[in-house]
Amino acid sequence: MSPAIETVALRKTFGDNVAIDALDLSVERGDVFGLLGPNGAGKTTTIRMLTTLLAPDSGAARVCGFDVSAQPSEVRQRIGYVMQRVAYRGLLTGRECVEIEAALYHLPRREIPVLAEAALDAVGMLPHADRRWTTYSGGMQKRLDLACGLLHSPEVLVLDEPSLGLDVQSRHNVWEFVADRRLGGATILLATNYLDEADRLCNKVAIIDHGRVVVQGSPSELKRSVGADVVEVATREPERLRRVIETERWVKKIVIGELGDLHIFVEDAAVALPAVMRIGLEHGIGLERVTYSQPSLDDVFLLHTGRELREVAMAP
Ligand SMILES: Nc1ncnc2c1ncn2[C@@H]1O[C@H](COP(=O)(O)OP(=O)(O)OP(=O)(O)O)[C@@H](O)[C@H]1O
Ligand SMILES: [Mg+2]
Repeated sequence: MSPAIETVALRKTFGDNVAIDALDLSVERGDVFGLLGPNGAGKTTTIRMLTTLLAPDSGAARVCGFDVSAQPSEVRQRIGYVMQRVAYRGLLTGRECVEIEAALYHLPRREIPVLAEAALDAVGMLPHADRRWTTYSGGMQKRLDLACGLLHSPEVLVLDEPSLGLDVQSRHNVWEFVADRRLGGATILLATNYLDEADRLCNKVAIIDHGRVVVQGSPSELKRSVGADVVEVATREPERLRRVIETERWVKKIVIGELGDLHIFVEDAAVALPAVMRIGLEHGIGLERVTYSQPSLDDVFLLHTGRELREVAMAP
């Protein structure tokens, strides 16, 4: 069977701005695939090409084996798209919104009430279905968008930053929604710049930056690949500390983060921690804070790009 999503050397520019540059992705059926990257990395642009809303400059993209440029209607039948921004749905009730959306998908008119009810139920919005959309909280509005994405039972569901701007409870609702679909064997492409979200939900992730795949694999593979432990050191003299420890046997790699912290990738923090302390003392370099942790996807991103996704993503 063809992969759920496949792109080959996909490229899209906006004037001089290369938004997507030679992007190769392969999403298998049943994957919950995370497209991870900072603001402006090209996640939404990729998704808009996959959902046939934007034409690529060159390269190819296929959804369930159908080419997005040559067979757009085949693609649209198989893909559900929940946009990054909540869609404005005016004075209608939740149920009316979903039913109108179903009509836009050309679903058989007689089946629409039943399909709408099922979609509302799937996102826990049935009890609120007959209230006006304008009275919904942000989390409820997002859930309504998710319901609309499910209406035509798409083979591939594409969610662009589904939990952006939601409170903790609503985020958990979205996560449950994705986890349920995953158990049901759905294929989901999830764009996010929340690494914890990707780590929790996805069996595979591609980290993209400047429109290219920087690294991809399962979250645990990626985390293992950066080493067993990460030691973080805050000091006023990060460059000098780096110079004196980078030749040590136990150092795999050192990156200085955006805030000037040293991130030291090591095999074993039990060896590295005392050594860092000792070297700091010997060279008279004050250490303000020394911590260690298991690598996170943040560390993977940092190691491959030299930048911290957390800070890049949070920047206004
Ligand atoms: N319609 C457009 N016209 C001009 N430039 C665009 C357009 N859409 C996107 N871009 C540019 O393409 C690049 C990728 O943007 P995109 O929206 O795909 O990023 P993203 O990864 O979704 O970011 P975010 O996390 O902020 O949603 C950015 O440099 C952006 O400014
Ligand atoms: Mg986006």
